[in-house]
Amino acid sequence: MSVTIKTPHEIELMREAGRILALVHENLAKEIRPGMSTLEVDRIGEEMIRSYGCIPSFKNYCGYPASICVSVNEEVVHGIPSGKRFLEEGDIVSLDAGVIYKGYHSDAARTVGVGEISEDAKLLIERTRMSFFEGMKKATAGNHLHDISNNIAAYAEKFGYGVVRDLVGHGIGKALHEDPEIPNFRKLSRGIKLRSGMTLAVEPMINAGTHEVLWLDDDWTVVSEDLSLSAHYENTILITEGKPELLTLTESEKAAGYLDLF
Ligand code: CO
Repeated sequence: MSVTIKTPHEIELMREAGRILALVHENLAKEIRPGMSTLEVDRIGEEMIRSYGCIPSFKNYCGYPASICVSVNEEVVHGIPSGKRFLEEGDIVSLDAGVIYKGYHSDAARTVGVGEISEDAKLLIERTRMSFFEGMKKATAGNHLHDISNNIAAYAEKFGYGVVRDLVGHGIGKALHEDPEIPNFRKLSRGIKLRSGMTLAVEPMINAGTHEVLWLDDDWTVVSEDLSLSAHYENTILITEGKPELLTLTESEKAAGYLDLF
């Protein structure tokens, strides 16, 4: 396994890739409304990515046919946008996107409500986001990779949620998926030592029920086995000697105090 350490120049490019993706998510979330098809979500998202001069990294990745993964309710990740699938009031929808800027990748996901959603759904979304920030408390040079994993899992499991094990986060840079794999569940081993200049996509996927998942016949869409609601939250981060730098947060997320959560 080889984990790359980015140069200052590479980090600059990844910051820009991250800044743009954060804006795409901020703007795309505002477009979500009952009645729109998931294909429409993809079209709007892809248009935004290209308007910033970036390439949508998911498009045609291993044959994935769209730019935005749109996963509704029990769909965990990799939902395929469709002109026949319409968002309904009360749904939750996970939007996962990646962009390439001057050869460097960023990757981030947000789960948002469609119109008014249930209290349980709100809590699942909020706690999935918080599990990421619990992980960030350990994302410092000198700590070990699985310290992040264990913090994420310990937080989410307190609520009786199922932490998905069959999909993991990853290193990121010149490629969308680089070493190392980043589990969101508890590991007995410590994992590699974190070093300044590593760039990682940390992405907890949390189910309201069982952690077990299934793949649908389209070979992409992952659903919770018990069809319970599922949420996803992901940012691309830079490991430093101090707090990690979160490359895919917007200015308004920072102003809302997200950097004080870890
Ligand atoms: Co990812």
